[in-house]
Amino acid sequence: MLKDVVDVLADPIDGSALRGADDYSRLVSASGHSFDVAKQGYVTLSAGSGLNHEGDSLEMVTSREVFLSQGHFAPFVESVTEHVCHAAAATGAAEPVILEVGAGTGYYLSHTLDSIESSRGVGIDISVPAAKRLAKSHPRVGAVVADVWEGLPLIDASVSAIEVVFAPRNPAEFARVLVPGGEVVCLIASRGHLDELRAPLGILGVEEGKLERMLEQASGHLELAADPTQVEFTMRLDRASIAAQVGMSPSAHHVEPSTLRQRLEKLPDFMDVTARGTLVRMRKL
Ligand SMILES: C[S@@+](CC[C@H](N)C(=O)[O-])C[C@H]1O[C@@H](n2cnc3c(N)ncnc32)[C@H](O)[C@@H]1O
Repeated sequence: MLKDVVDVLADPIDGSALRGADDYSRLVSASGHSFDVAKQGYVTLSAGSGLNHEGDSLEMVTSREVFLSQGHFAPFVESVTEHVCHAAAATGAAEPVILEVGAGTGYYLSHTLDSIESSRGVGIDISVPAAKRLAKSHPRVGAVVADVWEGLPLIDASVSAIEVVFAPRNPAEFARVLVPGGEVVCLIASRGHLDELRAPLGILGVEEGKLERMLEQASGHLELAADPTQVEFTMRLDRASIAAQVGMSPSAHHVEPSTLRQRLEKLPDFMDVTARGTLVRMRKL
């Protein structure tokens, strides 16, 4: 809940500390700004008059929830959690704060919190439908709607570890909010991810040089904490799971929905599909 993490949240306008007011129906800052807490339990922390884009739609969030609940990405969630556990333990914090950026439904963050006793989590996503799920994903999660490009509404040096799974990154802000010795654990898609689906469905592949671009973007703020590792496994997916996977992914949005439906209908009942990601650990310079 938000009240468990309010001590690390910051006013997005001036960075001052926030506290709950009126039985946590609002968060107010030392400088007098007020942010309403939605009845679903999330708060929007934005400096502007509104967010510039919406992130994942309700349909995408629902597809994501369906797909992830079937456990197809279990090796990804295990791997991210294992590395975040190490990173959080290394900081020596008694009640480590774990931040997930682009947290979606909270699938990864809630798994991590279950694995680290007395940890607390902040999940940030720009999508309101995602934040509604996120707020209910775990008793120790505080859900925040914010744009990672605009900045992170968090106090300096307040977070032990940051996890980012297939979501946007802001290295300068990551470095600002991490405690000394804290780490960012990123999972990015690698070439070959979901390849068996690409030709039959006409969806986009993973572009070349993704890891190199990420490291370049991080330079001056973060450095590699370990050699990047590959996480790869095969998923046996039925047609409904494939439809859910496609529905949660922006890579399919350039295909006309009726064309996509026809292509999905032509697939076999089951397919073996490769999942392949690169896990990257970075620490602040
Ligand atoms: C591919 S999804 C991954 C969600 C989650 N990490 C998972 O793997 O289940 C990317 C997420 O990033 C969010 N997102 C996109 N742009 C964002 C931004 N500028 N700031 C914060 N979140 C953003 C989307 O709304 C979406 O939930």
